[in-house]
Amino acid sequence: MSIQIDLTPEANDIVSTLHRPVCDLLGCTWPVALAGMGGVARSELVGAVTGAGGFGFLGMVREPVALIREEVQRVRARTDRKFGVNLIPAATHPELLDAQIATCIELGVPVVGLFWDVVPEVVRRLRDAGIIVVCQVGSLRDALAAEDAGAQVLIAQGREAGGHVWGDRPLAMLLPEIVAAARIPVLAAGGLADGADVATALSFGAQGVVLGTALIPTHESFAHAYHKQRIVDAAEHATLLTDAFHINWPRGARVRVLANSVTDGQRGDPFGTVKTVIGDEEGRPIYLFSTDSPLRSMTGDFEAMALYAGTGAGRIDTIVGAAERLHRIVADAAALLDSGAAPTHPASGVHDAPLAGAKREALLAALNELLEAERAGARVTSQTATEITAPELRQLVVSIRQDEARWCGVLTKAILSLDATPTRRTGAFYEKAMAIADLSQRMAFLNRGQGWVVRRLQALLPAIHDERIRNDLLAMLDSHEKNIRRVEIQLASTGERA
Ligand SMILES: Cc1cc2nc3c(=O)[nH]c(=O)nc-3n(C[C@H](O)[C@H](O)[C@H](O)COP(=O)(O)O)c2cc1C
Repeated sequence: MSIQIDLTPEANDIVSTLHRPVCDLLGCTWPVALAGMGGVARSELVGAVTGAGGFGFLGMVREPVALIREEVQRVRARTDRKFGVNLIPAATHPELLDAQIATCIELGVPVVGLFWDVVPEVVRRLRDAGIIVVCQVGSLRDALAAEDAGAQVLIAQGREAGGHVWGDRPLAMLLPEIVAAARIPVLAAGGLADGADVATALSFGAQGVVLGTALIPTHESFAHAYHKQRIVDAAEHATLLTDAFHINWPRGARVRVLANSVTDGQRGDPFGTVKTVIGDEEGRPIYLFSTDSPLRSMTGDFEAMALYAGTGAGRIDTIVGAAERLHRIVADAAALLDSGAAPTHPASGVHDAPLAGAKREALLAALNELLEAERAGARVTSQTATEITAPELRQLVVSIRQDEARWCGVLTKAILSLDATPTRRTGAFYEKAMAIADLSQRMAFLNRGQGWVVRRLQALLPAIHDERIRNDLLAMLDSHEKNIRRVEIQLASTGERA
């Protein structure tokens, strides 16, 4: 069966807004790719995404060649379009990797996606066989190494990504660096969940995006219903980075998952000597602390498995068909870009023009709003620190206060650099927070305030083209994300004693 894509006039408009050269290279209609999620991205999901105009990678890390063969055939039965196979050399025994590569070459797989260490010999072998090679990287250094090795497309993976996370840079920092330095198309990955995210990534210069988490809660994904539902139920900031799920992978590799009994420390030492079986996949034991996530083919204690999810999980509320999710995302992204509400492409040269009129006013209003909020945060933490007796929480609040004061300075300087006078007001957040007597509840409220700042910064950053202000605000974003997580951890352990 081959799925045909008939484009309505409306869809044609979306194509003309979203089309980028990488679509021609990968043979897709929309610049949106399904991540090569091991276990989860099987032929059913790849067929659905590719058939709906996106691009799909089969997640085949460490899979036997017989399964690769079957899955490739099944994708081909569903679509005539190009698709990819994802492999991870660092997590695969060399003999198996060799056989996997030989199979991809023999089957004439159109695209292979590689992740983790850049291995030039693997890239070269695939390229020599006429296969398009896509490398997912987490740093500028690896991006350039992959390009030198012969990769034709890069995926810049931000630390917001679900699953294994290679680098430590937020996408908003990593993406512009790689786009500026690379000569090949760059796709953005990590925490992207809706049309606004796609519009923003494109405006940062990405030619497209890669979605993992957003496509897990779909009818076609091979994730177990338990994993899908946990993503749907996830609150904002429900994910964290950990190296606790390590069996099968190089030591120290970090993954982003939903918090569970393993990450809360209730299941013992992940690096102890005892191996505990907590599940089964058709006769294969699933071990506690392994990198296996719950799949349709498994039984066992799913709560204790690696529940991979990116930071966008909190914004995914339903289990739908993959085509429906994809079409909603591309339609929203195109509408935003067309309306001009989304940020302008940094390469368009608009940023070289002096900021004037309504744009300058809007930027100043946003910076002043943030300044008021940070001032409120600094005052709340300053006073709260004097009321806390638990030493660790107190130390944390003092360090957040220092950060907030620093960001007040940064915002003040940014406003002055636009020849304007910084606001002297303190945000209403201060009164609201101080009205909460219970310290744990006040800290939780502070975290919601920090979350608000994160969202405002994410919305604002694409419109900032002054490099110095932009770098300062990126650092501010990063620091807020870290502080939110630090407060969450402290509240979980000392909240009661605060
Ligand atoms: C369940 C899951 C499994 C993943 N497995 C792989 C994998 O086998 N190979 C790979 O290159 N990336 C893998 N990733 C990472 C993705 O390639 C991608 O970076 C990530 O999904 C993007 O972030 P998002 O999940 O927030 O969309 C996985 C991600 C998830 C969520």
